[in-house]
Amino acid sequence: MKLSTFAPLALSVAPSLVSAATGSLGFALGTKNADGSCKAQKDYEADFDAISANTPAKVVRGYSASDCNSAQYILPAAKSKNFQVVLGIWPDVDTSYNADLSAITKNAPNYADQVWGITVGSETLYRGNFTGAQLAAKMSAVKTATGGKFKIGTADSWNKYADGTADAVIKSGPDFLFINAFGFWQGAAIANASHTYFDDISQSFNHIESIAGTGKIELWTGETGWPTTDQTKYEAAVGGVSNAQTFYTSGICSMLNYGYNAFYFEAFDEPWKPASIGLNGQPADETHWGAMNADRTTKFPLKC
Ligand SMILES: *[C@@H]1O[C@H](CO)[C@@H](O)[C@H](O)[C@H]1NC(C)=O
Ligand SMILES: *[C@@H]1O[C@H](CO)[C@@H](O)[C@H](O)[C@H]1NC(C)=O
Repeated sequence: MKLSTFAPLALSVAPSLVSAATGSLGFALGTKNADGSCKAQKDYEADFDAISANTPAKVVRGYSASDCNSAQYILPAAKSKNFQVVLGIWPDVDTSYNADLSAITKNAPNYADQVWGITVGSETLYRGNFTGAQLAAKMSAVKTATGGKFKIGTADSWNKYADGTADAVIKSGPDFLFINAFGFWQGAAIANASHTYFDDISQSFNHIESIAGTGKIELWTGETGWPTTDQTKYEAAVGGVSNAQTFYTSGICSMLNYGYNAFYFEAFDEPWKPASIGLNGQPADETHWGAMNADRTTKFPLKC
Protein backbone atom coordinates (compact mmCIF):
# COMPACT_ATOMS: atom_id res chain seq x y z
CA MET A 1 0.00 0.00 0.00
CA LYS A 2 1.30 3.40 -0.88
CA LEU A 3 -0.03 6.89 -0.54
CA SER A 4 -0.69 8.70 -3.75
CA THR A 5 -3.19 10.10 -6.10
CA PHE A 6 -3.89 8.21 -9.27
CA ALA A 7 -4.07 9.62 -12.74
CA PRO A 8 -7.71 9.46 -13.76
CA LEU A 9 -8.40 6.86 -16.42
CA ALA A 10 -11.29 6.72 -18.81
CA LEU A 11 -14.24 5.31 -16.92
CA SER A 12 -15.52 2.02 -18.24
CA VAL A 13 -19.28 1.90 -18.56
CA ALA A 14 -19.84 -0.48 -15.67
CA PRO A 15 -17.77 -3.14 -13.98
CA SER A 16 -18.12 -6.14 -16.27
CA LEU A 17 -17.92 -8.54 -13.38
CA VAL A 18 -19.80 -11.75 -13.85
CA SER A 19 -20.92 -14.37 -11.40
CA ALA A 20 -19.27 -17.73 -10.81
CA ALA A 21 -18.69 -19.71 -7.64
CA THR A 22 -18.02 -17.62 -4.54
CA GLY A 23 -14.48 -16.27 -4.53
CA SER A 24 -11.83 -17.02 -1.93
CA LEU A 25 -10.82 -14.58 0.78
CA GLY A 26 -7.31 -14.08 2.08
CA PHE A 27 -5.57 -11.61 4.38
CA ALA A 28 -2.31 -9.70 4.31
CA LEU A 29 -0.44 -10.63 7.47
CA GLY A 30 2.44 -8.80 9.14
CA THR A 31 5.58 -10.36 10.60
CA LYS A 32 5.60 -8.43 13.88
CA ASN A 33 3.68 -8.54 17.15
CA ALA A 34 1.96 -5.43 18.50
CA ASP A 35 5.11 -4.49 20.45
CA GLY A 36 7.30 -4.70 17.34
CA SER A 37 8.96 -8.00 18.23
CA CYS A 38 9.18 -10.65 15.53
CA LYS A 39 6.38 -13.20 15.47
CA ALA A 40 7.26 -16.75 16.54
CA GLN A 41 5.50 -19.90 15.34
CA LYS A 42 3.00 -19.71 18.21
CA ASP A 43 2.09 -16.12 17.27
CA TYR A 44 1.33 -17.14 13.68
CA GLU A 45 -0.70 -20.06 15.06
CA ALA A 46 -2.75 -17.63 17.16
CA ASP A 47 -3.19 -15.46 14.04
CA PHE A 48 -4.47 -18.43 12.06
CA ASP A 49 -6.83 -19.44 14.88
CA ALA A 50 -8.36 -15.94 14.95
CA ILE A 51 -8.70 -15.80 11.15
CA SER A 52 -10.34 -19.26 11.13
CA ALA A 53 -12.70 -18.40 13.97
CA ASN A 54 -13.97 -15.24 12.31
CA THR A 55 -13.67 -15.69 8.54
CA PRO A 56 -13.63 -18.42 5.89
CA ALA A 57 -10.06 -17.49 4.83
CA LYS A 58 -7.41 -20.21 4.60
CA VAL A 59 -4.63 -18.21 2.93
CA VAL A 60 -2.47 -15.26 4.00
CA ARG A 61 0.16 -13.25 2.17
CA GLY A 62 3.44 -11.81 3.33
CA TYR A 63 5.87 -9.48 1.61
CA SER A 64 9.39 -10.58 2.53
CA ALA A 65 10.14 -14.20 3.43
CA SER A 66 13.34 -13.27 5.28
CA ASP A 67 11.85 -10.40 7.31
CA CYS A 68 11.77 -11.62 10.94
CA ASN A 69 12.72 -15.05 9.52
CA SER A 70 9.04 -15.31 8.70
CA ALA A 71 9.27 -18.25 6.25
CA GLN A 72 10.94 -20.33 8.94
CA TYR A 73 8.14 -19.74 11.48
CA ILE A 74 5.00 -19.19 9.44
CA LEU A 75 5.21 -22.39 7.38
CA PRO A 76 5.14 -24.85 10.32
CA ALA A 77 2.37 -22.73 11.89
CA ALA A 78 0.42 -22.94 8.61
CA LYS A 79 0.89 -26.70 8.55
CA SER A 80 -0.45 -27.12 12.08
CA LYS A 81 -3.46 -24.88 11.35
CA ASN A 82 -4.16 -26.02 7.79
CA PHE A 83 -3.40 -22.68 6.10
CA GLN A 84 -1.50 -21.71 2.96
CA VAL A 85 0.92 -18.83 2.67
CA VAL A 86 1.97 -16.55 -0.17
CA LEU A 87 5.68 -16.00 0.43
CA GLY A 88 7.12 -12.67 -0.66
CA ILE A 89 10.36 -11.63 -2.32
CA TRP A 90 11.26 -7.95 -2.07
CA PRO A 91 13.34 -7.55 -5.24
CA ASP A 92 13.92 -3.78 -5.15
CA VAL A 93 17.49 -4.16 -3.93
CA ASP A 94 19.82 -7.14 -4.31
CA THR A 95 20.24 -7.61 -0.55
CA SER A 96 16.55 -8.22 0.09
CA TYR A 97 16.08 -10.18 -3.14
CA ASN A 98 18.88 -12.57 -2.18
CA ALA A 99 17.81 -12.88 1.47
CA ASP A 100 14.17 -13.59 0.57
CA LEU A 101 15.04 -16.03 -2.19
CA SER A 102 17.38 -17.89 0.13
CA ALA A 103 14.73 -18.02 2.90
CA ILE A 104 12.34 -19.52 0.36
CA THR A 105 14.72 -22.08 -1.17
CA LYS A 106 15.69 -23.17 2.35
CA ASN A 107 12.20 -23.43 3.93
CA ALA A 108 9.59 -23.80 1.19
CA PRO A 109 10.50 -27.30 -0.12
CA ASN A 110 9.90 -28.80 3.36
CA TYR A 111 6.41 -27.29 3.45
CA ALA A 112 5.41 -27.39 -0.21
CA ASP A 113 1.72 -28.03 0.61
CA GLN A 114 1.64 -24.85 2.68
CA VAL A 115 3.06 -22.63 -0.06
CA TRP A 116 0.25 -21.09 -2.10
CA GLY A 117 2.76 -19.26 -4.29
CA ILE A 118 5.51 -16.66 -4.36
CA THR A 119 5.17 -12.95 -5.12
CA VAL A 120 8.18 -11.31 -6.70
CA GLY A 121 7.72 -7.65 -5.81
CA SER A 122 4.97 -5.54 -4.33
CA GLU A 123 4.10 -2.35 -6.22
CA THR A 124 7.56 -2.19 -7.84
CA LEU A 125 6.09 -0.88 -11.10
CA TYR A 126 4.04 1.66 -9.18
CA ARG A 127 7.20 2.93 -7.46
CA GLY A 128 9.02 2.97 -10.80
CA ASN A 129 11.66 0.57 -9.54
CA PHE A 130 11.53 -1.68 -12.58
CA THR A 131 10.20 -1.73 -16.09
CA GLY A 132 7.76 -4.52 -16.87
CA ALA A 133 10.53 -6.41 -18.68
CA GLN A 134 12.92 -6.11 -15.74
CA LEU A 135 10.28 -7.39 -13.33
CA ALA A 136 9.37 -10.26 -15.68
CA ALA A 137 13.06 -11.26 -15.74
CA LYS A 138 13.18 -11.33 -11.92
CA MET A 139 10.04 -13.47 -11.81
CA SER A 140 11.52 -15.88 -14.33
CA ALA A 141 14.75 -16.12 -12.32
CA VAL A 142 12.75 -17.01 -9.19
CA LYS A 143 10.75 -19.63 -11.10
CA THR A 144 14.04 -21.27 -12.14
CA ALA A 145 15.68 -20.92 -8.71
CA THR A 146 12.73 -22.68 -7.07
CA GLY A 147 12.81 -25.55 -9.58
CA GLY A 148 9.49 -24.61 -11.19
CA LYS A 149 7.73 -26.11 -8.16
CA PHE A 150 5.79 -23.06 -7.03
CA LYS A 151 3.33 -20.60 -8.58
CA ILE A 152 5.05 -17.28 -9.28
CA GLY A 153 3.41 -13.89 -9.65
CA THR A 154 3.66 -10.28 -8.57
CA ALA A 155 1.46 -7.66 -6.93
CA ASP A 156 1.02 -4.12 -8.17
CA SER A 157 -1.34 -1.19 -8.25
CA TRP A 158 -4.41 -1.58 -10.52
CA ASN A 159 -3.49 1.41 -12.68
CA LYS A 160 -0.09 -0.08 -13.60
CA TYR A 161 -1.92 -3.08 -15.08
CA ALA A 162 -4.59 -0.95 -16.75
CA ASP A 163 -2.16 1.55 -18.33
CA GLY A 164 0.19 -0.96 -19.99
CA THR A 165 3.17 -0.60 -17.64
CA ALA A 166 2.85 -4.30 -16.72
CA ASP A 167 2.34 -5.60 -20.26
CA ALA A 168 5.71 -7.39 -20.39
CA VAL A 169 4.86 -9.12 -17.11
CA ILE A 170 1.43 -10.17 -18.44
CA LYS A 171 2.98 -11.49 -21.68
CA SER A 172 5.64 -13.45 -19.76
CA GLY A 173 2.91 -15.84 -18.59
CA PRO A 174 2.91 -15.54 -14.79
CA ASP A 175 0.90 -18.09 -12.81
CA PHE A 176 -1.00 -15.33 -11.02
CA LEU A 177 -1.24 -11.57 -10.66
CA PHE A 178 -2.38 -9.64 -7.62
CA ILE A 179 -4.06 -6.28 -8.22
CA ASN A 180 -4.04 -3.68 -5.43
CA ALA A 181 -6.89 -1.19 -5.40
CA PHE A 182 -7.55 1.30 -2.61
CA GLY A 183 -10.53 3.52 -3.21
CA PHE A 184 -9.45 5.15 0.04
CA TRP A 185 -6.21 6.49 -1.50
CA GLN A 186 -8.17 7.59 -4.55
CA GLY A 187 -10.11 9.85 -2.18
CA ALA A 188 -13.42 8.07 -2.66
CA ALA A 189 -16.26 8.95 -0.31
CA ILE A 190 -17.48 5.83 1.45
CA ALA A 191 -20.75 5.91 -0.49
CA ASN A 192 -18.77 5.53 -3.74
CA ALA A 193 -15.87 3.45 -2.40
CA SER A 194 -16.96 0.04 -3.61
CA HIS A 195 -17.92 1.47 -7.01
CA THR A 196 -14.37 2.84 -7.28
CA TYR A 197 -12.91 -0.52 -6.21
CA PHE A 198 -15.02 -2.49 -8.74
CA ASP A 199 -14.10 -0.02 -11.46
CA ASP A 200 -10.36 -0.36 -10.69
CA ILE A 201 -10.56 -4.14 -10.71
CA SER A 202 -12.67 -4.19 -13.83
CA GLN A 203 -10.25 -1.97 -15.78
CA SER A 204 -7.17 -3.94 -14.74
CA PHE A 205 -8.72 -7.41 -15.24
CA ASN A 206 -10.05 -6.36 -18.65
CA HIS A 207 -6.65 -5.10 -19.79
CA ILE A 208 -4.85 -8.22 -18.52
CA GLU A 209 -7.35 -10.54 -20.20
CA SER A 210 -7.22 -8.56 -23.44
CA ILE A 211 -3.53 -9.48 -23.62
CA ALA A 212 -3.36 -12.91 -21.99
CA GLY A 213 -6.79 -14.26 -22.81
CA THR A 214 -9.58 -15.00 -20.37
CA GLY A 215 -8.76 -17.29 -17.47
CA LYS A 216 -5.11 -17.82 -18.48
CA ILE A 217 -3.66 -16.03 -15.45
CA GLU A 218 -5.14 -16.42 -11.96
CA LEU A 219 -6.22 -12.94 -10.86
CA TRP A 220 -6.85 -11.77 -7.31
CA THR A 221 -7.35 -8.47 -5.59
CA GLY A 222 -3.93 -8.30 -3.93
CA GLU A 223 -4.81 -5.61 -1.41
CA THR A 224 -7.82 -3.52 -0.61
CA GLY A 225 -9.11 -2.17 2.66
CA TRP A 226 -10.23 0.79 4.71
CA PRO A 227 -8.64 2.25 7.89
CA THR A 228 -10.65 2.14 11.08
CA THR A 229 -9.48 5.38 12.66
CA ASP A 230 -11.24 8.61 11.71
CA GLN A 231 -7.89 10.38 12.14
CA THR A 232 -6.97 9.03 8.72
CA LYS A 233 -8.52 10.99 5.87
CA TYR A 234 -7.73 11.40 2.19
CA GLU A 235 -9.80 13.87 0.19
CA ALA A 236 -13.38 12.57 0.53
CA ALA A 237 -12.22 9.28 2.08
CA VAL A 238 -12.59 9.13 5.86
CA GLY A 239 -11.51 6.24 8.07
CA GLY A 240 -13.50 4.79 10.93
CA VAL A 241 -14.93 1.45 12.04
CA SER A 242 -18.36 2.09 10.56
CA ASN A 243 -16.94 3.10 7.16
CA ALA A 244 -14.56 0.12 7.19
CA GLN A 245 -17.48 -2.19 7.88
CA THR A 246 -19.43 -0.61 5.02
CA PHE A 247 -16.48 -1.11 2.66
CA TYR A 248 -15.96 -4.68 3.84
CA THR A 249 -19.60 -5.56 3.24
CA SER A 250 -20.22 -3.66 0.01
CA GLY A 251 -16.71 -4.05 -1.47
CA ILE A 252 -15.04 -7.25 -0.30
CA CYS A 253 -18.17 -9.35 0.26
CA SER A 254 -19.62 -8.28 -3.10
CA MET A 255 -16.37 -9.08 -4.90
CA LEU A 256 -16.36 -12.57 -3.36
CA ASN A 257 -20.04 -13.02 -4.22
CA TYR A 258 -19.29 -12.07 -7.84
CA GLY A 259 -16.91 -15.05 -7.80
CA TYR A 260 -13.59 -13.18 -7.57
CA ASN A 261 -10.79 -13.84 -5.08
CA ALA A 262 -9.50 -11.08 -2.83
CA PHE A 263 -6.94 -10.39 -0.15
CA TYR A 264 -7.96 -7.84 2.46
CA PHE A 265 -5.28 -5.48 3.76
CA GLU A 266 -4.82 -6.48 6.47
CA ALA A 267 -5.65 -9.13 9.08
CA PHE A 268 -4.61 -7.28 12.25
CA ASP A 269 -3.72 -3.75 13.30
CA GLU A 270 0.01 -3.10 13.50
CA PRO A 271 0.45 -0.53 16.31
CA TRP A 272 4.25 -0.84 16.18
CA LYS A 273 4.35 1.04 12.86
CA PRO A 274 5.62 4.63 13.05
CA ALA A 275 3.05 7.43 12.61
CA SER A 276 3.09 8.82 9.09
CA ILE A 277 1.76 11.84 7.25
CA GLY A 278 0.17 11.58 3.81
CA LEU A 279 0.86 13.65 0.72
CA ASN A 280 -2.03 15.90 1.75
CA GLY A 281 -0.41 16.71 5.12
CA GLN A 282 -3.08 14.74 7.02
CA PRO A 283 -2.26 11.81 9.28
CA ALA A 284 -1.91 8.72 7.09
CA ASP A 285 -2.03 6.13 9.75
CA GLU A 286 -0.85 2.66 8.73
CA THR A 287 -1.46 1.19 12.18
CA HIS A 288 -5.25 0.74 11.99
CA TRP A 289 -5.94 -1.06 8.73
CA GLY A 290 -6.67 -4.37 10.45
CA ALA A 291 -9.92 -6.22 9.96
CA MET A 292 -9.17 -7.23 13.54
CA ASN A 293 -7.53 -5.45 16.45
CA ALA A 294 -3.95 -6.23 17.41
CA ASP A 295 -5.28 -8.44 20.23
CA ARG A 296 -7.05 -10.50 17.52
CA THR A 297 -10.58 -9.48 18.52
CA THR A 298 -12.91 -8.39 15.72
CA LYS A 299 -14.00 -4.79 15.09
CA PHE A 300 -17.09 -5.83 13.14
CA PRO A 301 -18.46 -9.14 11.77
CA LEU A 302 -16.17 -10.55 9.07
CA LYS A 303 -18.36 -13.31 7.67
CA CYS A 304 -20.06 -12.15 4.51
C1 LIG B 1 14.09 0.61 -5.82
O1 LIG B 1 13.64 1.62 -4.98
C2 LIG B 1 14.33 1.76 -3.78
C3 LIG B 1 13.67 2.84 -2.99
O2 LIG B 1 12.30 2.63 -2.95
C4 LIG B 1 15.78 2.08 -4.04
O3 LIG B 1 16.48 2.10 -2.82
C5 LIG B 1 16.38 1.01 -4.95
O4 LIG B 1 17.68 1.37 -5.30
C6 LIG B 1 15.54 0.83 -6.18
N1 LIG B 1 16.08 -0.31 -6.93
C7 LIG B 1 16.18 -0.34 -8.23
C8 LIG B 1 16.72 -1.60 -8.82
O5 LIG B 1 15.82 0.58 -8.95
C1 LIG C 1 -17.51 7.17 -8.14
O1 LIG C 1 -16.48 6.29 -8.58
C2 LIG C 1 -16.31 6.26 -9.97
C3 LIG C 1 -15.27 5.16 -10.27
O2 LIG C 1 -14.03 5.43 -9.69
C4 LIG C 1 -15.89 7.63 -10.46
O3 LIG C 1 -15.70 7.61 -11.86
C5 LIG C 1 -16.97 8.62 -10.10
O4 LIG C 1 -16.55 9.90 -10.46
C6 LIG C 1 -17.24 8.58 -8.61
N1 LIG C 1 -18.40 9.40 -8.30
C7 LIG C 1 -18.35 10.36 -7.37
C8 LIG C 1 -19.64 11.07 -7.14
O5 LIG C 1 -17.34 10.61 -6.75
